[in-house]
Formats: sequence, structure tokens, C-alpha cells
Amino acid sequence: MTNVALVSGASGFIGPSLCRRLKVAGWHVRAIMRRPMPGPWDASVLVDLGREPVPLKTLADVDCVFHLAGKAHALAQGSGADEEYRLANCQSTLDLLAASRAQGVRGFVYFSSVKAIGKGDGPGSNPGFEPACLSPYGRSKRAAEDAVLASGAVPHPVVLRPSLVYGPNPKGYLELLIRAVRAGWFPPLPDLGNARSMVHRDDLVEAALRCTLDPRARGQTYVVTDGTPYSTRQIYEFILASLGRRVPGWTLPPGLLRVAALGGDALGRMRGRRFVFDSAVLDKLIGSALYDGGQICRELGFAPYRHLGESMAEIVASTRPVV
Ligand SMILES: NC(=O)c1ccc[n+]([C@@H]2O[C@H](COP(=O)([O-])OP(=O)(O)OC[C@H]3O[C@@H](n4cnc5c(N)ncnc54)[C@H](OP(=O)(O)O)[C@@H]3O)[C@@H](O)[C@H]2O)c1
Repeated sequence: MTNVALVSGASGFIGPSLCRRLKVAGWHVRAIMRRPMPGPWDASVLVDLGREPVPLKTLADVDCVFHLAGKAHALAQGSGADEEYRLANCQSTLDLLAASRAQGVRGFVYFSSVKAIGKGDGPGSNPGFEPACLSPYGRSKRAAEDAVLASGAVPHPVVLRPSLVYGPNPKGYLELLIRAVRAGWFPPLPDLGNARSMVHRDDLVEAALRCTLDPRARGQTYVVTDGTPYSTRQIYEFILASLGRRVPGWTLPPGLLRVAALGGDALGRMRGRRFVFDSAVLDKLIGSALYDGGQICRELGFAPYRHLGESMAEIVASTRPVV
């Protein structure tokens, strides 16, 4: 009998790859979205999750829910961010769980984030760490995770905590970096020894599939990375190589960037709105985000096969220049 998947967030960055992979594996794919859109799914249902109730028939005959819909990729966080994230990431999860329970759905794979652990610059890399202070995004993801695992709504709940996901048509951090390097705005920084965990979209999709099918994944929370930490300097050099450009023979002293970022902080305070470059942006750019993705490899035999360096040419080619 054909398995039926319900995929929320099917139209986003990760969703289409997951839908395509599920179809290759023989699943019937039903997608939830806010606007009608063609894509690699068999049927679609329009719901603004978190704001509209989930019609129960959406979950009829579903074997596994893959819940990806949510608010991500936001670089700036204004006032009201907590409520926005709560609705998009937490309420949507509660509503889908309730509907899943009502329809007797077996599996629920929740796409959370490493940000539900913390910044990844210290002991926060360990999944058990209880962070005192998470971002509004991280808090909403953590609350949704707790609901998935503790509600008892489905017999096979799994939480995935992907690190930054790369692949063609990237959004957020990687898209900004590629655009800045291509436009010549990104300065040649020295290697500052920071380390960032990342994972290719295809590997993440394989991890999700594995979690659905393997009974050992039941009730587990897995960080997903490609196993190789990258420094900002390495990523910068991958981008340059993909653009066919040489690495400059000089580097910008990081102290200068700090001064510019402090200037951005002051400007933001003066006008009551964050400046485009400030300490938070600098921190995101050159800080660490290092996480241990070993558990899913040890327990489920997950073996990521993609590497950022080898994938960058395809990613850069997919990113449009700034016009
Ligand atoms: N990409 C990463 O690096 C990364 C890393 C860690 C975790 N994650 C998590 O993985 C998931 C998927 O990420 P992504 O990069 O694919 O995100 P994305 O590109 O921003 O896509 C989000 C998807 O969710 C949909 N959506 C948002 N709010 C919705 C709502 N209220 N009702 C119905 N659909 C809604 C969006 O539809 P619209 O087209 O209508 O906006 C879009 O299809 C997210 O939960 C994210 O937090 C991503």
C-alpha cells in the first residue's frame, strides 16, 4: 500500500526537495501551503497555519506529517517578534498535532533548528543544554519541539534540528554572503578560527526519511550536520573559487569591522531601528555555530555525503546577482 505524507512548508527552500525524494520513494505527497502553487506534490491544501484551523480531512489517511512550515531566515528581529514566531512556529505545530491525533496519524517529523539549543559557540552544542537565553526564533522552535515530543499526539514523533542548510537557491546567511562577495562588498577577512556547522538539503532530506522509517528514531531529537565545520574564511574562499576569482593577497583587520559594527549599533540606537550592519550582523557573519550531529549517524547509520566546497559552484550559479 502507498504511504501518504503530509508536507507543510512544501513551497519553501527545503520542502520541494523533500517532496521530490518522497515521491521517488513511492509516497503519495499532500502539501500544505498558503497560496496555490505548482510543485512536486500530488495534491495541495491551502491553510495559513497558526492562524486558520487545520481541516481534519487534510490529515485523512496520512502516515507521516513532515512539518516544515514556519518563520525562518529573518535576520532582523523587531518588537513583536516573539508573538510572530510563536504563531508561525509553535501554534502551527500544536494545530497540526491536534489534527494528527484526531486522524490517528502515526509519524510526525518536526523540522526544528539548532537554534532551539543556543548559539553553538560553547556548551550549547550539546543537545541536553538548557539555554538561559534563546532568540525569539529559538524559543518558538523549542516550545514546538516540546509539544511534538510530550503531547503523545502521535506514536512516532521525531524532532530534527538542522544546522544551516545549503543547496541551490539559498536564503538568509549564505545568500547574503554570496551576493556580497560577488558584488565586491565583502572584505577579505583573515581566518578567525570560527566554525559553522552546515548540512546539504539533500542530506537533510535523507535524514528525515530515515527517521520516518526507523523505529529507533521514535521520540528522538537529532541535530543534523554534514560533519564538517566551516570557517567564514573557508566559505569566502569557496565562493571566490566558484566565481572564478582569485583570493586577494591582503586581509582586513577584524578590529576595523568591530569599529564599523559599533558605529552601526550607535546609529541604530539613534534612529530607533537597526542599521543594516551592526554587532549582531557581524556576530552572525564571523561568529561560531558549531553543533554535534553525531547521534543520528551512530544510532540510525545516517551518512551525509555532501560537502559545502563541492556544492558551492552549483549554489553560486543559482544565486542571482544584485541588480
Ligand atoms: N534553511 C535552513 O537553513 C534551516 C535551518 C534549520 C532549520 N530550518 C527549518 O526548516 C524548515 C523549512 O525551512 P526552509 O528553509 O525551507 O524555510 P522557508 O524557505 O522559509 O519556507 C518556509 C515554508 O513555510 C511556509 N509557511 C510559512 N508560514 C506558513 C503558514 N503560516 N502556513 C502555511 N505555510 C507557511 C512558507 O510558505 P509561503 O511561501 O506562503 O511563505 C514556505 O513554504 C523551517 O521550519 C525552518 O525553521 C531551516
